Amino acid sequence: MSDTAKVYRSTGIESQVANPPSEPCVMLIFGASGDLTKRLLVPAMYNLACDGLLSENFAVLGTGRSEITDEAFREMMGGEQGLRSFHTRKEFDEEQCEKLIRRFHFMPANQDVDDFRKLRQRVSELDAQFGAKGNVLFYFAMAPKFFGPLCDLLYEAGFQDGPGWKRIIVEKPFGTDLQSALDLNKAILNHWRENQIFRVDHYLGKETVQNLLTFRFSNGMFEPLWNNKHIDNIQFNVCESVDVQGRGGYYDHSGVLRDMIQNHMFQMLAYLCMEAPGSFEADSIRNEKAKLLESVRVYETDEVPKYVVRGQYGPSFERDGRIAKPGYRQEKDVDPASSTETFAAIKLHIDNWRWEGVPIYLRSGKALWKRGTEIVVTFKKAPEAIFRGTPVEHLEPNRLVFHIQPFQGIELLFQAKIPGPAVQLQKVDMTFSYGDAFKASRYTGYEVMLYSCTRGDATLFSRGDLVKAAWEIAQPILDYWAANPAREAFPNYMRNSWGPPAASDLIERDGRQWFEVVTPEVLEQLPLFKGAEQLLLNSVIMALNSTSAEPGETIIRIDEMAKEMFLICRGEVEVIDRAGKVLQTLRDGDFFGEVGLLMCSSRTATIKAKTQCDMFVLTKSDFSRILREYPQFAETLTQLAKERYDVLVSCEELMESAS
Ligand code: BG6
Repeated sequence: MSDTAKVYRSTGIESQVANPPSEPCVMLIFGASGDLTKRLLVPAMYNLACDGLLSENFAVLGTGRSEITDEAFREMMGGEQGLRSFHTRKEFDEEQCEKLIRRFHFMPANQDVDDFRKLRQRVSELDAQFGAKGNVLFYFAMAPKFFGPLCDLLYEAGFQDGPGWKRIIVEKPFGTDLQSALDLNKAILNHWRENQIFRVDHYLGKETVQNLLTFRFSNGMFEPLWNNKHIDNIQFNVCESVDVQGRGGYYDHSGVLRDMIQNHMFQMLAYLCMEAPGSFEADSIRNEKAKLLESVRVYETDEVPKYVVRGQYGPSFERDGRIAKPGYRQEKDVDPASSTETFAAIKLHIDNWRWEGVPIYLRSGKALWKRGTEIVVTFKKAPEAIFRGTPVEHLEPNRLVFHIQPFQGIELLFQAKIPGPAVQLQKVDMTFSYGDAFKASRYTGYEVMLYSCTRGDATLFSRGDLVKAAWEIAQPILDYWAANPAREAFPNYMRNSWGPPAASDLIERDGRQWFEVVTPEVLEQLPLFKGAEQLLLNSVIMALNSTSAEPGETIIRIDEMAKEMFLICRGEVEVIDRAGKVLQTLRDGDFFGEVGLLMCSSRTATIKAKTQCDMFVLTKSDFSRILREYPQFAETLTQLAKERYDVLVSCEELMESAS
């Protein structure tokens, strides 16, 4: 590399400020034999232990109704069905596992004060044995209806007395609506103080979510841009490809608004949009988050249909029409006429000085085409007039994409001049990837929660007023949905699709589009791009836009001038001739509309959506450019044009018409 072309890279070395271990304590887990403990809590303790962050003076007492011995509990947590299956490290450390599991104990208990007194006695013994200094961490890994009674029983059994701190970690969901959350808060705060309550939102434990704050407040260049003068809109996508995974009993009373949006997504919204805190102290940050959520406009119930779309997944089908996987209503423990939403898209407004006029779009759902959590900040476009008289037809806005998971990174999208004599632009990106920059092991997200709770740091936990503000935003939506069940309208999206087409309408009405994050792996699922070279895939990814069509919708009209081609990601379209005869049906992975672009002519057929269709669109200018750069792509298209439309066009002609 020449001296004049220095590239500054991340060193790949993490800062090694020595962190003190967690504080001594006995952790009393209610509902300890459930899934959460072995899947998340124990692997988190193990990660802390391996990284030297777990106090030596630490013991676990699990409790619940089951008659389980200490030995059986240790096997459950540390054995083949426990830590050995769920640990997240590359190498398994037998010694650390043994050392950790030896500190585990179990004591059966019913929900009555006598049993709780016995629990207290056992906690004191463990405290003496492990030197836990009287500190007790209570972990409620149980259904929310038990939270209030548990708090009462702990108090009645005298757990608040004695030396050391006493802290309570409460799992979500914190209430099922505004009123129940207020009641629950009251019940918990009856005997305990707010600074003893740690309400978990596991999204706050994700490094990529925590980094939203550090990114914003440690990089001076973004703050001047972080407002309605420069930002056009912000999108939050939490797409899950999994379905309800056997949790129908819980989910049918919850739905995506309660399960994902009211908590995880609103927490991310608060981090991304809040004002700068005075310091990184827990309350300094949480005050700003609360202020932000309180500035989100609370809709009147009758405004809900204007700003909110709900959906529920139906079955997926084999090509021969057989059901491949069941729809939501056919899932175990789900009401066969359920109106519970498994998808929602919401447009929000933040009515404060910084964000007035910037729409915030949120979208989340289950059984979608891909898994991916991203936050897309779209900046205002540069004026296009300066490019008149050049081949540049339109400018793309700059985007900053926070990839929360599974890819973890940050990407900045901008435009660059395509090398050559003409002024032509192409979207390009600068990407930071956690995997490349840091070596840290993957955490479950619960490590930092346990660690900071023992150290009394509540930054990563929600607070009563935050929970209340979040429910206030969600409540009118819940009310509207309860009063207007979607019995007839559901299911309204297919498994593995992009969700209901109405979600696209919601944003397209504003002249905007959802920004679908496409990876090379996704593109390679389409036959056209299978095995294609990485550079071609990247060029196509940069050029694609997304769109959806409802069944029966006309996508291309005969005789209209061709301006774009389409790739079907999910769904079926029909190719119809002038006489109205269906010539062909195209499906997932097929593309259409390319002939008009190839020949620079008008459309030779009408194309209508037969089912719900999710598609990518490639515009004429991007299409031409890609053809010129990748002649092999032109060859594939020529062959397909012949097979499908009986149009004979040579590669040379193609490239000519493209240029
Ligand atoms: C949980 C929800 O809180 O978060 C689940 O109850 C959801 O339904 C999960 O699948 C998603 O978490 P993550 O960390 O996989 O994004």
